[in-house]
Amino acid sequence: MSTLPPTTVTTERKKITVRSLQSKKERGEPISMLTAYDFPTARLLDQAGVDVILVGDSLGMVVLGYENTLPVTMEDMIHHCKAVARGAKNPLLVGDMPFMSYQASVEEAVRNAGRFLQEAGMDAIKLEGGRGRLKAIQAIVEAGIPVMGHLGLTPQSVNLLGGFRPQGKTAQSARRLLEDAQLLQDTGCFSIVLESVPARLATVISERLTIPTIGIGAGAGCDGQVLVTHDLLGLFERSPKFAKRYANLREEMLEAFSAYISEVQSCAFPAHAHTTEMPDEEWQKVIGE
Ligand code: KIV
Repeated sequence: MSTLPPTTVTTERKKITVRSLQSKKERGEPISMLTAYDFPTARLLDQAGVDVILVGDSLGMVVLGYENTLPVTMEDMIHHCKAVARGAKNPLLVGDMPFMSYQASVEEAVRNAGRFLQEAGMDAIKLEGGRGRLKAIQAIVEAGIPVMGHLGLTPQSVNLLGGFRPQGKTAQSARRLLEDAQLLQDTGCFSIVLESVPARLATVISERLTIPTIGIGAGAGCDGQVLVTHDLLGLFERSPKFAKRYANLREEMLEAFSAYISEVQSCAFPAHAHTTEMPDEEWQKVIGE
């Protein structure tokens, strides 16, 4: 385990708020959002200057190894949100409400949303769905908690959608998505994620709404973009078609692990530089000479 104390975050940026995101939209400045689930990644994203960190329930797939996001619990989310909040001070921190934490009743939705701010250090929450979620969104906003919506491919409905497939490709479903986006804005969402929807639909939604849209697989016409950080870093063999790899950390990590294993096997590690010594006279007392 590393015994080096974490260096402090040195960025001089101002804290990003829901109001700063709104101003960015008004100025036509694109918003950057990435996911994080742990302290070191959160620190690096903060230092790199990202606007928004989403502690996504994609946690279930890219960190916990589940096939989809359905098994993720409130306790999983709170645990990882706390780590992210310890690492990132400047970005807006958004905690993703996991499956069944807001669907059963409005009361439960408000209580669980509150935990993200009260216990986990988040600034806002995100939840999936359109017209069926309006009561919960309204109550959460009334409790003083900023809500980010999520439309299009909503992974918590993977069983209903019949897989992780793009949405809004027919005129009927596109019109429904447009209406849902307007309803979410009218109900008080401060921003909406548009996942896997046709670019021209996402562009029209972004033009019609006054709140910022954040796209993932939704083209360049959104007010901001989000990626799952593990996809951006190239940590897996495969990633979704819409995810661009900005690094190939999988290869780098494999090389580093293999180099370590072979140096341990050949006794090349640890070298003198990695070793602690003690004064000779103290050692003599130990071995009694
Ligand atoms: O859980 C997540 O990471 C998300 C993003 C893909 C938007 O919802």
